[in-house]
Amino acid sequence: MNRLRQSLTTVLTGLLIGVGAQAQAQMSQLQVAQVQDIPSLPPLQAARTTGDSIFPALGQLGLDVLNYDLTLTVARPGTSELRGEVTLTLTATQPLAQIQLDFFGPTVSAVRWNGRPVVFRSDIAAQKLLVVPPAPLLPGVEATLTVSYAGAPGIVRDPDFSYPLELGWQSVPGDEASAGATRAGANFTLSEPNGTHTFLPSNDHPSDKATFTTRITVPAGFTGAASGVQVSQTELEGGFQTFVFRQAQPIPTYALAIHVNQFERVESPAVPVGVGGSPVQRRDYFPVGTAQPTREAYARTAEMLRVLSGWFGPYPFEAYGVAVVTPQLPALETATLSTMPVTSSREPVALHELAHQWFGNAITPADWSDVWLNEGFATYAELLWAEAQGQDGQAIAARWMDTLNRRGTRPLVARTPEQLFDTSAYQRGALALHALRVAVGDDRFRAFLQAYTARYSGGTVRTADLLALAQTQVGPEGEAALKLWIESPALPALPILP
Ligand code: TRP
Ligand code: ZN
Repeated sequence: MNRLRQSLTTVLTGLLIGVGAQAQAQMSQLQVAQVQDIPSLPPLQAARTTGDSIFPALGQLGLDVLNYDLTLTVARPGTSELRGEVTLTLTATQPLAQIQLDFFGPTVSAVRWNGRPVVFRSDIAAQKLLVVPPAPLLPGVEATLTVSYAGAPGIVRDPDFSYPLELGWQSVPGDEASAGATRAGANFTLSEPNGTHTFLPSNDHPSDKATFTTRITVPAGFTGAASGVQVSQTELEGGFQTFVFRQAQPIPTYALAIHVNQFERVESPAVPVGVGGSPVQRRDYFPVGTAQPTREAYARTAEMLRVLSGWFGPYPFEAYGVAVVTPQLPALETATLSTMPVTSSREPVALHELAHQWFGNAITPADWSDVWLNEGFATYAELLWAEAQGQDGQAIAARWMDTLNRRGTRPLVARTPEQLFDTSAYQRGALALHALRVAVGDDRFRAFLQAYTARYSGGTVRTADLLALAQTQVGPEGEAALKLWIESPALPALPILP
């Protein structure tokens, strides 16, 4: 490696240490100018992103992350202090002379390529970490990229909700003892759509799904939890403990769950609704002192798994449960471990997040404009569950129709960030499935859903893929019903079950 490059990188990294995110953002222009003055440095023009139609800055075209092996230390839960090291296993679908990860996180101290130090640069304004490997990464070749970092995560404001929400690494300060009760500090991830790169250098786009090993070190008395199954729990010096989790099926970056809190981990009997009837491990994490009514929202998870797998086919992961959090936030379907605020701990919300394990986490939209494929399906699952409880599904569909008539509607493929999680994505998306069901009948509808999950679980989809599958699985009437609900500018008429 060129010595000049190395010392320059060191200088630049040195500049960033101990500087707040805002100051860092202001400084980054300056660094770009400095770097461009040095002719021996590698090309600095941005690599091509995934070209997402809603978030064009995310990801890198041609980069394929296969696995993230993440080691996180949370020494003071409830603060934003974080230390991390991640090794990404990479390959490429086209030759890549530089790697550009999304990262708006703590300060990077070192980057290694296949174990050896390499040139890197943090472009904080662009929220990218640029790495130049010794030789281009070629298709069919695997490499590892290791990033070490420490400090405070960046803040990404949610670009799509109508109320303010900060995405990514969440820090919940503990309460001082008051009236005999204390609440421990906590941290957790809440990242959809683009918050994961506040704490993890990543190809932060759903078109690049990956498997994860997550190792979380926490102080005595705290529990670490993450997506996947727990593979070990080890005690270290000073009472610290390391919890290790393996998520062996690929998931989108936004769905990675990480939790640190004083948890009660509650195990329940496994439910045999996994692939080939395999058992689905059941564990829920409740903050110590969680009230009974909150826990009751999750009492029927086994039954929900049975009902939903009856419609959707086998549950696609090895485990399911929830981690309850105390701040008032929306619930999120983090993989195998939904993140459930106390204020959202109600049965329909619990059911909705469970349904996202099939639609969102196992089958993932390749472009954010197609997120109705998550929200419409998860919303329709609420109706299927209500019917399984003897309620009138058609009445629920009629209420969705009223909401849409009141609030207005749009074709289902989103065009702006504000549309991603609006009433059309949820209720109109659900009614599109209701229309398909009414057009083809319950048996063919169920067969269609199971053909869709069988075909696309573990992968990504576009709206056109769903339509193409309808064409072959349920024929022209089914496809036409779906297409009308997907594309019509006006709201189609409410389809009525026989
Ligand atoms: N996918 C979530 C749901 O409907 C909604 C959601 C979108 C969300 N972005 C979020 C929740 C960010 C929490 C944080 O279940
Ligand atoms: Zn949802």
